[in-house]
Amino acid sequence: MIPDILSPEFAADPYTGYRALREEAPLFWHEATQSYLISRYTDVEHAFRDPVFTTANYDWQLEPVHGRTILQLSGREHAVRRGLVTPAFRGTELRDTFLPVIERNARELIDEFRTAGTVELAGQFSTRFPINVIVDMLGLDRTDHVRFQRWYTSIVAFLGNLAQDPDVAEAGLRTRAELAEYMLPIIARRRAEPGDDLLSTLCLAEIDGTRMSDEDVKAFVSLLLAAGGETTDKAISALFANLLAHPDQLAAVRDDRSLLPRAFAERRSGTARPFT
Ligand code: HEM
Repeated sequence: MIPDILSPEFAADPYTGYRALREEAPLFWHEATQSYLISRYTDVEHAFRDPVFTTANYDWQLEPVHGRTILQLSGREHAVRRGLVTPAFRGTELRDTFLPVIERNARELIDEFRTAGTVELAGQFSTRFPINVIVDMLGLDRTDHVRFQRWYTSIVAFLGNLAQDPDVAEAGLRTRAELAEYMLPIIARRRAEPGDDLLSTLCLAEIDGTRMSDEDVKAFVSLLLAAGGETTDKAISALFANLLAHPDQLAAVRDDRSLLPRAFAERRSGTARPFT
């Protein structure tokens, strides 16, 4: 029996539903969202690589809340845009400029509950950590962490609003307007007086005379909150949940911290041993 992905039962236990989809209906028509669901790893990997599958759905799913983003581009236009943004996210730039920002934000959040005795890890760490890091990487005012947290929450709710709740949709559109009002003047100032932050790098990046417009940069910032925020938030929360559910593995990680990066590396390369 294939559960409805919009049902409370599925929300309570998606894993049983995923298994049913993989094993009983690897290609499943979902009437409510008017879309086909594919659930097997090889099929999803194929869909990401085969150009017959486009990102046209992002025009109605993402663009209303972010504006037009890199995810909607394809071919040369995508390659140029990717060439403009990726240098800031890898190599020495990432290690030297952003690793200290990542470590400082982790330490600051842990300091808030270090001696508290109990902590709600998702709400007090994994949900806030990536957003604080992204705000600081962009060189924005650190007192705006809470404002970006609010925008992050409404953007992610908008993207997951498969049931099309009108209040969730309206809050997402309001966020788009607020983020534009906040970001566009800052982007104009960074173009005039660039610093060594990510926003200045994005404003100045140029390939064969092509640069991102103010609206492109603003849309990329909005995308970062979801693409960089939600993925990291959920990956860290899942890691915490698995380590707490497997005390032997938590003890192993405590004894040997190199296990974590190795686990992530294995997961990225597909050679991970399953959590037993
Ligand atoms: C656990 C962590 C992460 C996972 C699993 C993940 C996964 C993905 C996937 C599957 C895509 C392709 C989406 C599509 O084509 O529809 C993607 C794209 C992207 N991600 Fe991530 N991501 C992670 C972390 C991050 C972080 C930390 C950032 C930045 C701070 C980021 C920024 C982006 C951007 C900008 C794109 C668009 C790239 C393009 O269109 O060429 N992601 N990510």
